Amino acid sequence: MTNLGVLISGRGSNLEALINASNKKEIPAKIAVVISDKSDAFGLERARKHNIEAVYINPDDFKGKDAYEQGIVKTLKKHNVNLVCLAGYMRIAGKVLIDSYKSKIINIHPSLLPAFPGLNAQKQALEHGVKISGATVHFVDEGCDTGPIIVQSAVPVLAGDTIEILSSRILAEEHKLYPLAVKYFAEGKLKIEGRRVIIQ
Ligand code: GAR
Repeated sequence: MTNLGVLISGRGSNLEALINASNKKEIPAKIAVVISDKSDAFGLERARKHNIEAVYINPDDFKGKDAYEQGIVKTLKKHNVNLVCLAGYMRIAGKVLIDSYKSKIINIHPSLLPAFPGLNAQKQALEHGVKISGATVHFVDEGCDTGPIIVQSAVPVLAGDTIEILSSRILAEEHKLYPLAVKYFAEGKLKIEGRRVIIQ
């Protein structure tokens, strides 16, 4: 059984998708702990409703990013986490986190990477005028949304789409894609070869 540590900053709908997949035994993984860098993240409430340990770790309580991430790693280790899932966690993972969980941190992003990394990916896609966008789950490296890609799902960008409409079309895909990526990881099917992730 893989123990997940889910890092969030907000709403937590991807967290909920992982909780549901775990409860339905669609993935051989359970959520061991949820950590937020924001005290009012709704995802903390979602986790508690499912009796999952949910912790707010205030970055201001630490002297700098390394110390903050050491605090996160301490909590992850305490819960025997062996896969860290970033789910709407709006900070770039740093060296401490990445070195502590080498090739064991994944992230979901609302675009077909490498297009539109960073903030407001759906807005970037609309403004660029692409006809297809989507979602990506990838391993995390020290860049911003640059790590090896595990799975992707495409959606059309339609005439008349607003940021909200496109975001919800992509989000529906995210909720299927993240559990799938976790399933592959938990089943030991993922092998990283350079930039490529082989699904065995
Ligand atoms: C999701 O769309 C996720 O892909 C995105 O934030 C949203 C979080 O929603 N993440 C990023 O943009 C990371 N660069 P959620 O809190 O409901 O899961």
